[in-house]
Amino acid sequence: MSATLPLPDSAGQCSVDVFDCPVLLTENLVLRAPHVEDIDAITILANNPAVATMVARMPYPYGRSDAETFVRTSAKRENGNCVYAITEADSGRFLGCCALQCAEDGNATELGYWVGEPFWGQGIATQAVHALVGMAFRTRDIDHIDARVRVTNPASRRVLQKSGFQFQGTEMVPVLALRAAASMEWFRLDRKTWFSLISWSGEHRAPAA
Ligand SMILES: CC(C)(COP(=O)(O)OP(=O)(O)OC[C@H]1O[C@@H](n2cnc3c(N)ncnc32)[C@H](O)[C@@H]1OP(=O)(O)O)[C@@H](O)C(=O)NCCC(=O)NCCS
Repeated sequence: MSATLPLPDSAGQCSVDVFDCPVLLTENLVLRAPHVEDIDAITILANNPAVATMVARMPYPYGRSDAETFVRTSAKRENGNCVYAITEADSGRFLGCCALQCAEDGNATELGYWVGEPFWGQGIATQAVHALVGMAFRTRDIDHIDARVRVTNPASRRVLQKSGFQFQGTEMVPVLALRAAASMEWFRLDRKTWFSLISWSGEHRAPAA
């Protein structure tokens, strides 16, 4: 079956409408809204400079009140934002977070993610990014998704490259945990590239009758 996806009218604009953020399932993961029950795990896993200094807006040190605020504000889903807890399908264990958010100028949809250090190297971020990107292109009228990764973060660069993102340039971006700006590589995945990737992998095919 040849599938064509509608192309957006709004050339990458991140809508201010509130979107549904459906629960997403992958082979090993469930991506769902962060819950109050996640606060202890978030506090422990996020209070790690190896995590906090690699993302733009996470404070460090990271305390319980930061996790409480995070869970509360995530629930508001403002400006098209979808924030997910990444959890293990079998056990329900909290592993990390990922999100789609409007850039501050409203002109782009930005992808962000982190995984707790004990769970690195198991393909969790890659699975979560694939699920989130797929949901975004299937449900939103956007033609690209952006992501930024510190130049000192080869693991995250690899996650983006494995997901089809392409390098756009380098820029300085404020990092809250550093209280300073850091050099970041800007990556972009456009709808056509994403659609080619899922076509090659057969992911878009209808299930066999
Ligand atoms: C970056 C991060 C999300 C990766 O999560 P993860 O679940 O371990 O990622 P995955 O296992 O899906 O993939 C990691 C890839 O990076 C590779 N990698 C890991 N360390 C690497 C290094 N030092 N150099 C090169 N590649 C590296 C892994 O081998 C793997 O690639 P492969 O599948 O081809 O072998 C996690 O390390 C993290 O949360 N770091 C701190 C926060 C952060 O960086 N967030 C992203 C901000 S842009």
